[in-house]
Amino acid sequence: MASLLLPLLVTFLLSIPSNGHNITAILDGFPDYALYNSYLTQTKVCDEINSRETVTCLVLPDSAMSSLVAKQSLAGIKNALRLLNLLDYFDPQKIHDLPSGTTLTTTLYQATGNAPGNLGFVNITNLRGGKVGFASAVPGAKFDASYMKAVKQIPYNLSVMEISSPILFPGLLDAPSASTTNLTALLEKAGCKTFASLVASSGVLKIYQSAMAKGLTILAPNDDAFKADGAPDLSTLSSADLVTLLQYHALPAYTPKSSLKASSGPMTTLASSASGKYGISVASRGDDVTLDTGVDTSRVASTILDDTPVCVLTVDNLLLPVELFGGAPAPAPGPAVLTPAPAPAALAPAPEGLSPLQSPPAPPTAAPSDAPASPSDKADVKASDGVAVRSAGVMATVVLCSWAFASVF
Ligand SMILES: *[C@@H]1O[C@H](CO)[C@@H](O)[C@H](O)[C@H]1NC(C)=O
Ligand SMILES: *[C@@H]1O[C@H](CO)[C@@H](O)[C@H](O)[C@H]1NC(C)=O
Ligand SMILES: *[C@@H]1O[C@H](CO)[C@@H](O)[C@H](O)[C@H]1NC(C)=O
Ligand SMILES: *[C@@H]1O[C@H](CO)[C@@H](O)[C@H](O)[C@H]1NC(C)=O
Repeated sequence: MASLLLPLLVTFLLSIPSNGHNITAILDGFPDYALYNSYLTQTKVCDEINSRETVTCLVLPDSAMSSLVAKQSLAGIKNALRLLNLLDYFDPQKIHDLPSGTTLTTTLYQATGNAPGNLGFVNITNLRGGKVGFASAVPGAKFDASYMKAVKQIPYNLSVMEISSPILFPGLLDAPSASTTNLTALLEKAGCKTFASLVASSGVLKIYQSAMAKGLTILAPNDDAFKADGAPDLSTLSSADLVTLLQYHALPAYTPKSSLKASSGPMTTLASSASGKYGISVASRGDDVTLDTGVDTSRVASTILDDTPVCVLTVDNLLLPVELFGGAPAPAPGPAVLTPAPAPAALAPAPEGLSPLQSPPAPPTAAPSDAPASPSDKADVKASDGVAVRSAGVMATVVLCSWAFASVF
């Protein structure tokens, strides 16, 4: 009973933004910021804002916003929007009362982990004549942006204030763009050479490319993932199954890490047909996002391209769909209920050469059962033990639940 209710409860609770605020709905009430709001949605920075307990959103009026977005890629605009969202609570009173000297504050841009040095910080300074200016923390940056007016304050969680201009520094808008980036080279540079070469040689690169216009998120396993204990020997897969496996490593939608965190319920992949198979579940805890295929789990490691509607994320493990690898791990004693033994008759017409793919051979998929846990990463639960994966799932559910309860009550 409880096992039926828990997932429902989690799904319900996760659909509520964690600070209880919805920046899109708030800005809907202020037509002056319609363009800003529309770009928050297109770039999904709105999900990042809603996931924060404390945030100050510096908004730009449409006139300033339209000059910012002119001729910029969405990836560049996304960087600029992230730099305008401060991870602390500042209301008009607080910025005017800042102690003399300056305040450096961190931003959503810094929180991506991709900002070199202190480029993701904003310097707030009281300028002459009661003006408060905002600038990049880059030495010598000019205070082009200044405080205009209060828009909405919800102490001490969310503050929205209008400023006159964007906060910029050289290079902020030069994010890699999906339309000009060589995907193979990008993957190779990010330590995903094996994946890149499989994607190119199998022809799946073309499938990815044709899916890009409608939205695509690639989940690229790094090179270590292919060498890990328990990683299947892909040379035993038929080329059709290899294509399916690689399609399984992509979602047919723009889903950056922040949106994965906000998602609920299993997600479809490029391998999913109308039947709804080949799904992936997501769990998150703090800034960590874990994908669960039902056979194994993998952590989302880093973002290597984020240009709406295309996103490329790296993952620590291969994602093994139940439909291809579910039969392999055979937990020894108890849970015979999960996988009823096939009737002897069913075994009869399955000679050696028929289809190595329908019934994947046990050894390559499952790690040796005497080496159950990955030595390297505490968060990883290997495919070698279906029971462990399941109990980890329950654990995660319990943790999520208590976390969700804590943040609601
Ligand atoms: C936030 O509000 C917008 C517009 O009112 C709505 O479309 C969206 O679904 C809301 N998001 C969440 C997470 O509730
Ligand atoms: C912030 O800007 C002011 C004015 O240019 C400068 O004096 C100060 O050193 C800056 N603060 C930091 C920490 O960079
Ligand atoms: C602000 O966030 C905290 C959690 O950090 C929450 O307990 C509180 O209810 C929120 N306040 C408002 C007004 O939403
Ligand atoms: C993309 O990069 C790969 C590897 O660096 C290279 O082999 C390939 O020729 C490049 N493709 C294009 C279209 O430039």
